[in-house]
Amino acid sequence: MTSGTLFRTKSIEQIQRDAALGLGDSEGGPRLKQTLGVLDLTSLGIAAVIGAGIFSTIGNASYNGGPAVAFLFIFTAIACAFAAFCYAEFASMIPVAGSAYTYAYASFGELIAWIIGWDLIMEYAIGNIAVAISWSGYFTTLVAGYGLHIPEYLTMDFLTASRGFTAVAELLNSGNTLEQIKAMAGMGGSVEGYLAWTSAPSIGGLKLVCDLPALAIVIIITTLVFVGIQESKRASNIMVAIKLGVIFLVIVLGSFYVRPENWSPFAPNGATGVLKGVSAVFFAYIGFDAISTTAEECKNPQRDLPRGMMYSLIVCTILYVLIALVLTGMVNYKQLAVDDPLAYVFGPEGVNLKWISFIVSISAVIAMATVLLVFQLGQPRIWMAMSRDGLLPPIFSSIHSRFKTPWFATIITGLVVAIPALFMNLTEVTDLTSIGTLFAFVLVCGGVLILNASDQKIERKFKTPYINSKYIIPIAFILIALWFVFFNREAVTSFLSLQDPNDPTLGVWDVVKHKIPLTIYLVMALALAWYSFRLSLSLIPVLGLLTCGYLMTELGWTNWARFLIWLAVGLALYFVYGSRHSKLGRN
Ligand code: ALA
Repeated sequence: MTSGTLFRTKSIEQIQRDAALGLGDSEGGPRLKQTLGVLDLTSLGIAAVIGAGIFSTIGNASYNGGPAVAFLFIFTAIACAFAAFCYAEFASMIPVAGSAYTYAYASFGELIAWIIGWDLIMEYAIGNIAVAISWSGYFTTLVAGYGLHIPEYLTMDFLTASRGFTAVAELLNSGNTLEQIKAMAGMGGSVEGYLAWTSAPSIGGLKLVCDLPALAIVIIITTLVFVGIQESKRASNIMVAIKLGVIFLVIVLGSFYVRPENWSPFAPNGATGVLKGVSAVFFAYIGFDAISTTAEECKNPQRDLPRGMMYSLIVCTILYVLIALVLTGMVNYKQLAVDDPLAYVFGPEGVNLKWISFIVSISAVIAMATVLLVFQLGQPRIWMAMSRDGLLPPIFSSIHSRFKTPWFATIITGLVVAIPALFMNLTEVTDLTSIGTLFAFVLVCGGVLILNASDQKIERKFKTPYINSKYIIPIAFILIALWFVFFNREAVTSFLSLQDPNDPTLGVWDVVKHKIPLTIYLVMALALAWYSFRLSLSLIPVLGLLTCGYLMTELGWTNWARFLIWLAVGLALYFVYGSRHSKLGRN
């Protein structure tokens, strides 16, 4: 196999022609239904974005970063906005399902397209595992309020229960009572884990701990998505209206309970504490890009997709920053290490407005269901696009004759999400989702630069505004480097050191491996600064690459290692199946 084969690209003209002729589906078979307008798309974007991130994972981010986490929301929104421009540009020129996968096929060629298609499973399917787990947490608390107690061992994953058991057992052994441990900050989750572990039945010595509500919600949503886009759209629009209403209520009502002294100190754990929240905060923004997978179900995708993405990102950013400020203003940030922060601040440990806490819990359950819905819609459509290109078996692009949905890919998505949701741990899946999605953003930004440089004459209804980066990027690079050398030399010395100042017993590899992501980033950033200068690259995609790439470096070595293993498995599959069946190869 030659490198020419691996990097063969699909011309955008060809993709546009196929879409116009309706060959976007499994040749000659039923087509997807075109019903979505700009309002539906904005609503779908908001449906996908506002969910587990703001209702759940923001709790720990605020606990680590304090009120300054609001800045992280702003920085992350800016990084997402750069990527959104690039997504919008691609979506306006390639209005077919497949999102970043199809964009990569047109710009980088088949191999990278496959990698990105494989990587998107992390954003959509693995992301949905995280959302299903969070959904289950809120749902369990909600029904408990009605006196319906689901046994703990049926509402959480094995790892959380086992870790909780170990943590609580240690404290019990050192003389604390369970009640005392419950009252300790940040121990609520561990106590639940302990209870699950000690009450779970064993089969052959193995504790039976799993998350049944997570399974149930995935089955329900998958059924809805299977039945049709029209039904999904209606359900999503109603649920979005409810969740926006509640978020608004939290902000307005919560602002009356803000005590400005809670904002001081604003960044109690400095930049390090704030940056611990990168994964959670970025996770909260994931989703605006997912609407591009519905391109073939839009009435006017080239006009409406870019607008839908931008509008949903703007609305969500405003809401997030306000929520972060209200939450950290209502209670001390140290209280926020909980899985249901929005309900918590109105509960007995917060301002004690039980009815609001209750409404928030109900709407969290609704909000997360909409995220599940959009991602369960998106994943099969990406697989459908990959299958049409021959990279996956043809059945993945088969459209149901009655429901007009990619039925097989929808069922497989349901299984891929539902089964791991029974057993997997929230933090780990959130981290994997964030790194996978950031990688997709980086490639989409890079794709725009490559297309700009290529000679493909392409009609695009939306173009990322061109600002010349020739001097801006190299000068910014030099200024940042000088700032570190003169004002933050400690950080430079610590980065160059082969020893960990906090733990001198650590070996060189254990120290160095954590520096690999940042080292790779710095080399790439330097190269990009050089190319910006030489080729006068467009500033927005360059900034998208730099900001999203930087956020990736904050996700830690373990996530990088897992991510690389995931990509290696994907590559193996490509060489076993995709490269041999690719339609492009046969044309
Ligand atoms: N942004 C989505 C959420 O927070 C993934 O649930």
